[in-house]
Amino acid sequence: QRRVRIPHLQAMKAKGEKWAMLTAYDMYSAEIFDEAGIPVLLVGDSAGNNVYGFETTVPVTVDHLVPLVRAVTSAARHAMVVADLPFGSYQASPQQALATATRMMKEGLAHAVKLEGGKPMVPEVELLVRAGIPVMGHIGFTPQSEHVLGGYRVQGRGDSGDRLVEDAIALEKAGCFAVVMEMVPAPLAARVTEVLSIPTIGIGAGPDCDAQVLVWQDMAGLRGGKAPRFVKKYADLRGELGRAAAAYAADVASGSFPTQENSFLE
Ligand code: KIV
Ligand code: NA
Repeated sequence: QRRVRIPHLQAMKAKGEKWAMLTAYDMYSAEIFDEAGIPVLLVGDSAGNNVYGFETTVPVTVDHLVPLVRAVTSAARHAMVVADLPFGSYQASPQQALATATRMMKEGLAHAVKLEGGKPMVPEVELLVRAGIPVMGHIGFTPQSEHVLGGYRVQGRGDSGDRLVEDAIALEKAGCFAVVMEMVPAPLAARVTEVLSIPTIGIGAGPDCDAQVLVWQDMAGLRGGKAPRFVKKYADLRGELGRAAAAYAADVASGSFPTQENSFLE
């Protein structure tokens, strides 16, 4: 199987084949998800919350993400790797967006970038696409704007639904190859998916999007505490790793590790 490219995603939409995107931030996760057949890996600025220990994605910088993008692209043989443009690295002008996206492509070897925002981001999207950089949009709840949005809240309820549809259409017209919809009522996400000819990727946006995305540490149960409603845990990695660490420590304490087998005897 060769590298997943935009026409593959387009073909899946045409055939009504749904697909799953996952975040990845390092070599092993990228390798494992790639081997599992995940077609698109996102090096999200959710690395802020899931790698760097920040409370939000706001403090994440391009320098934080570039090495992670590079690790994921080095390990993923088939998946398309999308790099998030972090807060403050693209909103100032299309030129700033191009400079940042160029770093993600040249230093991170990303195959595409993602940025947050609807209509106001059209000039940025147009310039990137003209320069040869595929762009994934991201509308609905956009975590980089959480202080303006008033926290994690469902977006597009009531009258603002029409505006979200217009944002989606504007992004498609500007040249986006796909668009993420985060925390949007399911019927509205279904409407956008129907209207757009590019794939929609939902997270908390119901079952009718063309694709779904989850943060991998949420999906695999690595993160502690209560997960948001839109998360489904497919494993208990937190429990599994905790048990492994405790068993290792107990073996060391009792003297049952290392044994001769684990030792160089001469
Ligand atoms: O950073 C991220 O993980 C994201 C996805 C949740 C879409 O933007
Ligand atoms: Na993100």
